[in-house]
Parts: sequence; C-alpha cells; structure tokens
Amino acid sequence: MQKPYPPVYYADYLQLDKLLSCQNPKSDEYGKHAHDEMLFIIVHQAYELWFKQIIHELSSALNLFSKEKTDEKDLGTAVARLRRITAIQKVLIEQLNIIETMTPLDFLDFRDYLIPASGFQSFQFRIVENMLGLSIDNRVKLDNKNYYSLVSDEHQKLLLDSQNNLSLHQAVDKWLSRIPFLDIGGYDFLLEYANAVTRMIGNERDIIINNPSLSDEKRNRQLDEFENTKKKFEALLDENKHNELVASGNRRFSYRSTLAALFINLYRDEPILHLPYRFLTYLVDVDENFTTWRYKHALMVQRMIGSKVGTGGSSGHHYLMQTAEKHKVFSDLLEIPTFLIPRSELPDLPDDLRSRLAFSYELK
Ligand code: HEM
Repeated sequence: MQKPYPPVYYADYLQLDKLLSCQNPKSDEYGKHAHDEMLFIIVHQAYELWFKQIIHELSSALNLFSKEKTDEKDLGTAVARLRRITAIQKVLIEQLNIIETMTPLDFLDFRDYLIPASGFQSFQFRIVENMLGLSIDNRVKLDNKNYYSLVSDEHQKLLLDSQNNLSLHQAVDKWLSRIPFLDIGGYDFLLEYANAVTRMIGNERDIIINNPSLSDEKRNRQLDEFENTKKKFEALLDENKHNELVASGNRRFSYRSTLAALFINLYRDEPILHLPYRFLTYLVDVDENFTTWRYKHALMVQRMIGSKVGTGGSSGHHYLMQTAEKHKVFSDLLEIPTFLIPRSELPDLPDDLRSRLAFSYELK
C-alpha cells in the first residue's frame, strides 16, 4: 500500500534548528561568559512553552463553555483539559528546583545585563491569568502601574484582548446559573437546605451550652465562633446579603451559581453530579497550583536576591508574596466548604428528582 504522506524527519518536524538557536546569553554577547545564564534562559523558555500549552487547553475548555448548552460530553472534555493543566502545573512547580541549583552569586554574574526585563513581562503568563478570570480590580499593582504597562505595544494589545474576552470564571458562572436542579417540580433546594442548617445549628449550640467539660471562658469563646458561622450561613441564605458581598468584592459568582455549586458539592454522590463535581474540583486545583507556584517562586526569589528590588522594578519578594495571597480566581469555590453539612443532615431528595439525577440530563 502506498504511504499517503511524505516521510518526516524528527529534527525538521520539531524545527530543532530554530529551537536550539534561541539561547543567546547576554554575558557571552558582552564577552563576560557566565556559565549559569544558559540554565536561566532554558528554564524560562521551557516555562513559556508550557504556558503556550496551558493557553491551548484553556482555549479549548472555554470554547466548550461558550456554547449555549454544555452537554455531558463537553463537560468530560473540559475536565480532561483541566486535568492536563494540573499535570503541567506540577512540572512548573518542580521546575523551580532546577533554577534553585543556581546560587545567588552565580546569578549576580549576569543579573545586571537583564534590567529591566522580568518575568513580570511574561505576556503568556498574563494571558493565562486573564483566561482564567483574574480581574484587574483584584490585581496587586506594581509601583502603581497596571500589569500590562511594562510590555510592548504588541503584547499590550494581546493582554487587553484576553482581558476583554469571556474568561473561564465568567463562563463557569453562567453555566452554574443554568443548572436546573435547584427548583424542579415542588422541590426547593434553598428551603430544604435552610431547614437542615437551622436544625444543625440548633444542635451545635445545644452541644456547646451543655458540654460539662467547658469552662465559662471556653464556652463563651465557642459561642462567639458559633455566632460567626451562623452569620455566614445567614448571608448564604439571603440573596440581598450575597449581592452586598458581590458589590464589596468579597464574592464573584451570582447567587444562583453559588447555590448550584453548593448543591453539586452536597449531592456529589448522585451519579449525574460526579462530572460537575470533578470539574469544580479541578478549577480549585488549577487555582491552588498557581498559588503554590507563586509562593514557591516568591521564596526562591527571596533566596536568590534577598530584599533587593526585582529587575522589573518591584519590591521583589514582598510584591510576589502579595500576589500569591491575592491572585486567586475561584475563591467563591473555596468558600463552599464553609457551607457543607454532614451527609447525615442532608435533606433527602424527592424520588422524581433523584431519578432525574441518575440519568443523562441536558443543561437548559
Ligand atoms: C533567578 C530566578 C528568578 C528571579 C530572581 C526572579 C525574580 C522575580 C521578581 C523580583 C519578580 C517581580 C517583578 C520584578 O520586579 O521583576 C518576578 C516576577 C515574575 N517572575 Fe520571576 N524570577 C526568577 C525566575 C523566574 C522563572 C524561572 C519564571 C518562569 C517563567 C519566572 C516568572 C515570573 C513571573 C510570571 C513573574 C510575574 C509574577 C506576578 O506579577 O504575579 N521567574 N520574578
């Protein structure tokens, strides 16, 4: 049988001549060879390649979620995309160990040649952040400047485009708000859940008050904590209070989306909710992995340059620690465990709803 395609040569297919001629240390250009600059370049380039792959996966997930309907097959594909991103992120986190084999003195051999270039200008990293849905209001400013102010005009355009396009956060918010199970037939999830919470909270209060091993001081402290938890539940059960949290920037998902995320987490044992639950879990994983990377990068930077300013002009370690703390996208999902109640307290679902949850469904 005739081969339908011409033969391919490994090095040509991967364009290795191009790829392997992109490592040009500044120290060699200036005639002051610094051995570790090659590592520095290659590690950064490897990161950028992986960022490109993450953008590829995110674009695909976003395409699936931009549709009017997201069926189970699409959800399964989106889960696979996110799973791959988390596998790549583990490599990204590990890869910092390689750069840490360079000592601060070795870095000083070539650091000054790089000013003012910095990872701060990694436009692909910013595109990933924007595609996930990191909002400009939540970003830590560098020297009162926006994240896109230090990149070229061409890259600025890319960043503004990615900032204005639909983000995964927005797409997931819309998808959650369409989930149909919250009020089907005579079933009202919020009412059932509120009743269960009232019962549970009443029990918890009784347990604290009647616990003979608690001193008065400890009992009062526990009652204060109990009141705080109660207030959080009250905010969840009241749409206006939720909207106030959204207005003050403490929540981002709509009220209905928040309830849908809660429903999926509470009833995740129902067959039809397995996939949505896995999807939400991967979103949290992706967010957490970037946070882990940010912390590890910040610690590596402290080890490498102490409290010096960065080549990009930031306060270095201090700035990076702030981004690790603040640059979280799916913080709404991180709040969900606050509102979980034990399986034993979960209201039973009506039979007709349970049977619908056991079969394939179409999201409205
Ligand atoms: C010797 C190694 C490194 C040092 C000393 C270092 C230092 C810094 C510093 C100080 C910043 C803050 C901005 C500035 O003032 O420049 C920064 C930001 C950044 N670096 Fe690195 N870095 C190193 C390696 C890497 C590597 C290997 C990557 C991988 C791509 C990377 C990616 C980034 C990114 C994406 C930012 C922006 C973070 C943000 O604004 O949230 N860095 N780096």
